[in-house]
Amino acid sequence: MPSQKVTVATLAALRARGERAVLITAYDYPTAAFADRAGVDALLVGDSAAMTMLGLPSTLGIGMPEMLVFARAVARAAARALVIGDLPFLSYQPADEEAVRNAGAFLQAGCDAVKCEGGARVARRVRAMTDAGIAVMGHLGLTPQSAAQLGGYRVQGKSLAAANRIVEDALALEQAGAFAILLEAVPAEAAAYVRERLRVPVYGIGAGPELDGQLVISHDVLGTFVGNINPRFVRRYAEIGAAIEGAIRCYAADVRAGGFPGPEQCYPLPPEGEAEIRRARRPAAPAPS
Ligand code: KIV
Repeated sequence: MPSQKVTVATLAALRARGERAVLITAYDYPTAAFADRAGVDALLVGDSAAMTMLGLPSTLGIGMPEMLVFARAVARAAARALVIGDLPFLSYQPADEEAVRNAGAFLQAGCDAVKCEGGARVARRVRAMTDAGIAVMGHLGLTPQSAAQLGGYRVQGKSLAAANRIVEDALALEQAGAFAILLEAVPAEAAAYVRERLRVPVYGIGAGPELDGQLVISHDVLGTFVGNINPRFVRRYAEIGAAIEGAIRCYAADVRAGGFPGPEQCYPLPPEGEAEIRRARRPAAPAPS
């Protein structure tokens, strides 16, 4: 694992050497710092923040102002990992100039690259951003911003014809200068078929192991997602949510029983002050027992 800052060139070199890259989402300073120390190659400030951080029902309700707050926090923590800002719904679809300005805002917030959803139909936007010197990752397969158009959160690329449509979209993005493609919810064999036809790294979330790397949503692997969505591709590596709830229950029980704060959490008085204050104390209301 290289110790210098990861760049898009580092990711290309990993693919060339047949080494898998590790990507995870992060939206806040502590998670990004822990993931960076753990040696991940890239941190995605995903628009999944709408659901993981804001409790919204889909990614459609988050905009640039909220995304930039999350992006700044993550970029501040990332000493090594490449930081990718996820362009939210309507931040790039309407016009090339809007795409360039919003992608540029992510770079000004400290990100190294951006990601946007869609294939041939956004290739012009991707070209506009890459022409402006911005590194862009494409996102194909299940693209949550267009879930309604896809008929819901459905697995994509389930036939050769469907896999070939993903290949065409991926090639359009590659030709527009995208440095990598992310495939979401695509059967493993179809995803491998897409990867074989591209030169840039292809990463997956729910797209099987035969790719250049994997992305996971931090809340999924850490057990901090609050909600009922449970995609097949999630593997839980910790139960941090349950640990948080358990710790707060213990704290609440201690407060209610008068066990917190204890003497070790209280500031001592100097002896002369203690005597003075003791004499002067006259509680207006009885102290809780
Ligand atoms: O926003 C995000 O976290 C994403 C992943 C689900 C791919 O785009």
